[in-house]
Amino acid sequence: MFKSFKNFFHIKIVMNLYSLRNYFTSNGAVWLKLNGSDLENMISKIIDYNRLDLNDKNILDLGCGTGTMLRYAVDNHQCNAFGIDLIRLNIYQAKKKVPSGIFYRGDIIDYLNVLKEKFDLVILYGVIGCFTLPNQRLIIDKILESLNPGGLLWIGANLYEDFDYKFQTYPVPRNFYDDYKKSEQFTFDEVSEVELFGKHKYEPKQTSVMISYQP
Ligand SMILES: C[S@@+](CC[C@H](N)C(=O)[O-])C[C@H]1O[C@@H](n2cnc3c(N)ncnc32)[C@H](O)[C@@H]1O
Repeated sequence: MFKSFKNFFHIKIVMNLYSLRNYFTSNGAVWLKLNGSDLENMISKIIDYNRLDLNDKNILDLGCGTGTMLRYAVDNHQCNAFGIDLIRLNIYQAKKKVPSGIFYRGDIIDYLNVLKEKFDLVILYGVIGCFTLPNQRLIIDKILESLNPGGLLWIGANLYEDFDYKFQTYPVPRNFYDDYKKSEQFTFDEVSEVELFGKHKYEPKQTSVMISYQP
């Protein structure tokens, strides 16, 4: 009950306030402490770390906020951008930032349920914790079905329930990713975000999980 209220407050009120702030300040990140250049730094490191060739490929950002990461990818890697977000004002700004992008204003699960395209990079940054554990698994499974060979799912700001961070709504148990680690079709990698991005502004122990489809 408390978690449902916290989640509602987080998504329906706090995130809308961030969006409003972005609208007036062009901050670029739907977060309290991050800004646009933090997001650009992260997406560029993820592309380099995984040696992704995104030229003319499809990249999907689920919970894309104002489209900062998509703009970086399109400007630097000439890829095709797709972005989803619940908040109308975010999508409005994302469309302006990435005129070539295809955007959908709505719920991630609804979008994934009717998805036809295949992707080479799917971004879930700062978003997965908005969903209950069964829905986190459903979302991950649906994304993995939508990857092209060699395609990557990046789950950022992954937080475990044994961390001290108090503000994550649905942190994951330690064994959450075990099935993905065992899969023969997917390679699993997990790196501390301090190590990957060079700094952190939130929970120092948060990790980035990367699952790649290697049939
Ligand atoms: C913490 S923000 C992160 C935004 C962006 N990924 C970034 O790094 O700036 C979480 C985003 O997820 C979006 N979001 C949350 N729940 C969603 C849902 N069920 N469907 C679509 N978007 C959702 C919010 O509107 C918000 O823009």
